Amino acid sequence: MSEPGTPLQPQAANQELRRRIMGYIVSQSIFTVNELRIADRLGGEARSVTDLARECGVDADALHRTLRLLAAEGLFHEGPTGSFRLAALGELLRTEAPGSLHEFVNLMAGESYRVWAESAYSVRTGKPAFDLVHGMPHFNWLAEHPDAARDFNRAQASLVTQRSLPLLERNWQGVKTVVDVGGGNGQLLATLLSQQPHLEGVLFDLPHVVTEAQAKLTESGVRDRTRIVGGDFFAEVPTGGDVYVLAQILHDWNEEQALGILRSCRKALPDHGRLLILEQVIPEDDEPHPAKLLDLHMLVLLGGRERTETDWRSLLADSGFRLESVEQGARSSLMTAVLDGAAR
Ligand SMILES: C[S@@+](CC[C@H](N)C(=O)[O-])C[C@H]1O[C@@H](n2cnc3c(N)ncnc32)[C@H](O)[C@@H]1O
Repeated sequence: MSEPGTPLQPQAANQELRRRIMGYIVSQSIFTVNELRIADRLGGEARSVTDLARECGVDADALHRTLRLLAAEGLFHEGPTGSFRLAALGELLRTEAPGSLHEFVNLMAGESYRVWAESAYSVRTGKPAFDLVHGMPHFNWLAEHPDAARDFNRAQASLVTQRSLPLLERNWQGVKTVVDVGGGNGQLLATLLSQQPHLEGVLFDLPHVVTEAQAKLTESGVRDRTRIVGGDFFAEVPTGGDVYVLAQILHDWNEEQALGILRSCRKALPDHGRLLILEQVIPEDDEPHPAKLLDLHMLVLLGGRERTETDWRSLLADSGFRLESVEQGARSSLMTAVLDGAAR
């Protein structure tokens, strides 16, 4: 890619734009090899396409053409005799690779990917195309599709370690009870409580989601320090915490809905309490940033959005909070908010 600000020659510009226009072919091919678990099948070896195709029960020629495309994209190395081995990017599709993106691909594929064919609807209306394509909002759809919901929760959990570092690494001294609002299947709370033996936790999420948490919390040895509560954060969130966590929650919702969740948290938060928000913060410039991609994904999927620091300040102020600090992390930022005395 050219340096930002350096004009491309017409020919190069044409090619660059074509590559982007046809980018979904690359995305979909990555989804296919992920589904076939080609990266795990290769491991550290070079293997022939015929062998791989036989093992997966797929068409050898079609698999060869898919792997050839992805070799050109840096996922594989193609050998002289129709054999392939993993390259640096492909390594990240291995299920056990450090920082594996296997589950992330599952999140971007399937029901989410189909929605993107109708993304213009979201631009015309500001509403989620998911509802148009699947006939109901995303979280309602997940409630009706237990297998997809389990995959969704597993994918979210797999991303926790990478995107929660600023939260896990903050100073937890002086905190007694942390409430993870929309805490999914408990991965973040399990990790945090394992690292901080003095902490107690409350896991709060939709009733059908928290049922999955029992095993994870027990496995991590923190079950006896955790209370599991099922409910709806638009109605209320559990009281009794001195820190409330909203990790990747508010970006799922539009302003009005996000205000509703924040107001539920405000009602539960004691005067000395802190609200920790773990989210992306969109930089206020025109440079590439992953949050700008996720922002549109949130729009088409949920009618939600990523926010700039200015947006965050005003959303928090409108719900009776004051943004105390923003700590930028590589994968997400940690915002700490306190009750705004004047707004109480
Ligand atoms: C993007 S996931 C984030 C999960 C987790 N906090 C993390 O960082 O991985 C959003 C979570 O919000 C939960 N959720 C959605 N609607 C909810 C509601 N009305 N009440 C409580 N939780 C809800 C979902 O079940 C899901 O676990």
